[in-house]
Amino acid sequence: MNETTKDILVHTEAGVSSIRLHRLERKNAVTAAMYAAMADALDAARDDAQVRVLMFHGDTTVFSAGNDIGDFLQQPPASQDAHVFRFLHALATFPKPLIAAVCGPAVGIGTTLLLHCDLVYAGENAVFSMPFVNLGLCPEAASSLLVPQLMGYHRAAEALLLGEPFTAGTALELGLVNRVLAPAECLGVAQAQARKLAAKPLASLIETKRLMKSGQAAQVLAAMAQEASSFGRLLREPAAREALSAFMQKRQPDFSAVP
Ligand code: COA
Repeated sequence: MNETTKDILVHTEAGVSSIRLHRLERKNAVTAAMYAAMADALDAARDDAQVRVLMFHGDTTVFSAGNDIGDFLQQPPASQDAHVFRFLHALATFPKPLIAAVCGPAVGIGTTLLLHCDLVYAGENAVFSMPFVNLGLCPEAASSLLVPQLMGYHRAAEALLLGEPFTAGTALELGLVNRVLAPAECLGVAQAQARKLAAKPLASLIETKRLMKSGQAAQVLAAMAQEASSFGRLLREPAAREALSAFMQKRQPDFSAVP
């Protein structure tokens, strides 16, 4: 299977399916069409017996600038059937190992999708951020549940209430990533780890992942549903409209007139 869309490149080789975010002129900001392509790739990889491992990567300079802000303004997700939610559900329930290689900025979904990956390799230039509040929004991808669990409440509050970015070194200390590498080596190391996993018995990998996650699989989906409802509402409110318009107009947002 080798599927190609313009901004998402899917390539499968030797049991490893790779999803490459490839929209460099917009720093790999994710559009609805890209969520759809990634959801389709996850569904196909789940059902394809030849695929044992799935990997996400960008290039050595950027992983993803998060959701495309123009898309948020023009076509906010209208229901739980929206491509973004289809992608998040496919990601959180993906039964086989998920790996990510992350260099450069990983904003919003660029960071929160990593919470669902089993192995994450970061370039020294990786910068993680979840600036939802700064955009008048709230967490997604079950990050309101998983980030406090991962980092403890107070560090999660810095990341989610203040929206403060953190470095690859901090991500390693927090347990969000497995290793920090030179950017030029990051993808190669992730690919080597993917090949190691792909050589193992698939049924054992699937069962082990299921057992590790079974304690909170239902809470993750419940958190996602709650977040999606709040996110969809906030996206249409004045604070988000101001923050998103300000980004597009390359100016600072002014929240003085909004609640
Ligand atoms: N949506 C739409 N366009 C985006 C984008 C996004 N999320 N992120 C970047 N772009 C665009 C920029 O507007 C710019 O467009 P231009 O060439 O027409 O000016 C282009 O991509 C390059 O981005 P730029 O900001 O110049 O790159 P940078 O290297 O200086 O900074 C980031 C990279 C990722 C740190 C910065 O672009 C950023 O903060 N993006 C927004 C992140 C965000 O808030 N995402 C939403 C999370 S929910």
